[in-house]
Amino acid sequence: AHTTAAQGFILALDQGTTSSRALVFDRAGRVVAMAQRELPQSYPQPGWVEHDALHIWTDTLACMHEVLLRAALKPADIAAIGITNQRETVVLWDRATGTPLAPAIVWQDRRTADACARLRADGHEAFVRGRTGLVLDPYFSASKIAWLLDHVPGARSRAERGELACGTMDSWLAWQLTGGRRHITDLTNASRTQLLDIRSGRWDDDLLALFGVPRALLPEVLPSAGLLADTDPALFGRAIPLTGIAGDQQAALYGQGCSAAGLAKNTYGTGCFMLMHTGRQVIASTHGLLATCAAQTSAHIEYALEGSVFVTGALVQWLRDGLGLIARSADIEALAASVPDSGGVTVVPAFTGLGAPHWSAEARGALYGLTRGTTRAHIARAALEAIALQTLDVMRAMEADAGAPLRALKVDGGGTANALLMQMQADLLDCPVQVAPTAETTSLGAALLAARGCGLDMTLPDSGGRSFQPQDRTLAAALLPRWQRAVSATMQMAA
Ligand code: G3P
Repeated sequence: AHTTAAQGFILALDQGTTSSRALVFDRAGRVVAMAQRELPQSYPQPGWVEHDALHIWTDTLACMHEVLLRAALKPADIAAIGITNQRETVVLWDRATGTPLAPAIVWQDRRTADACARLRADGHEAFVRGRTGLVLDPYFSASKIAWLLDHVPGARSRAERGELACGTMDSWLAWQLTGGRRHITDLTNASRTQLLDIRSGRWDDDLLALFGVPRALLPEVLPSAGLLADTDPALFGRAIPLTGIAGDQQAALYGQGCSAAGLAKNTYGTGCFMLMHTGRQVIASTHGLLATCAAQTSAHIEYALEGSVFVTGALVQWLRDGLGLIARSADIEALAASVPDSGGVTVVPAFTGLGAPHWSAEARGALYGLTRGTTRAHIARAALEAIALQTLDVMRAMEADAGAPLRALKVDGGGTANALLMQMQADLLDCPVQVAPTAETTSLGAALLAARGCGLDMTLPDSGGRSFQPQDRTLAAALLPRWQRAVSATMQMAA
């Protein structure tokens, strides 16, 4: 028997840093099918990270067709599409041809560190922070867009003439999905560009002037849920409404059910991103965190406090691919568990600088405390500790900004499959760590937003996740002093 759109399946696209995926969800919030393509990374120079945007689009489209086949559904069975994506990464393309003018500059890319340092030296930091909620760091899109305009021949004048478009991955995918008819983004993604006034929710002329970005380049800013656009009928034989868009971390916050002030989650992916919903209030961090827009589902703008840690899962990948220490990422758990402690080894994974709460664009990774007795197991264990310790730093900052302790932390993402890491995390934070009932929290968030945007009831799965209670309360005292000295030394090396 054939399903119909009335039965309401939602197709979620999750365009992440390391893969592009399409998932079909049913109304009970369950994953019906998934298709995925790994995304090649290119590192053309130290500190640079690029993606091929056209490749991302063709992979995404292929995943969409594949997931429909796997789910045995027709395009007519899909009530709506939701997009969630790696944030800050920017694409610059030609409006007439839809072709990117250069490789996409990925959020991890540090090539604009000097440009940001100059803006800081010229005294613009407080203004930028106040208006955008973000620190002046190459992480965000604005300096990357300016770099493209200054380095792609002819780009600046073409941008000023309105011939070019620019956007984050959601914007790029929405453009392609609508056959080049719509140039849009949602509030969460816009809030990561460093060009948005987060209080008004609009592009800001002062910021545009400061970074040298012509307004004509930028997409229209829309809420995260609603009838945002329709896909080009040529793609699937019929137009499918696009009714949800959110940056991946805001989507995960929504997918975790953290839609009210005080609720927080931490996602363990390429990096770790802890977000706490702060309701309609912008909390200006005094402890190295960011203020950012949470998914917008009504006329009001709501906010979150965010601690962005750049390298966590990517550290495990590097142990696998860069050092060959493990064959598969999942092997790190057994290797780390084969020793009782890290034997005095400390890893500071500042591969792409340090994000929250330190913000050092120039810092680079370091390994301390090596002895003749150090084995790969000690390094593996120190890597897991580094992931948990970075999260501890962010959590402390968040508690200080919020003025209240976190009683429990909801977690999701690939790293939550590692029970040793989760136990270390609970021990270090000294609070329960609750793993989300579904591994697909980010995509679920996009699906929930899309369902809301098209008026479909979708329930949030609410049971089944594991919970880790603090056991070893001595771990923080054992690791923290050494960790703090190692982070300071790493930042001093860069100074
Ligand atoms: O801010 C960057 C973040 O959105 C990337 O997330 O999961 O694609 O590494 P992820």
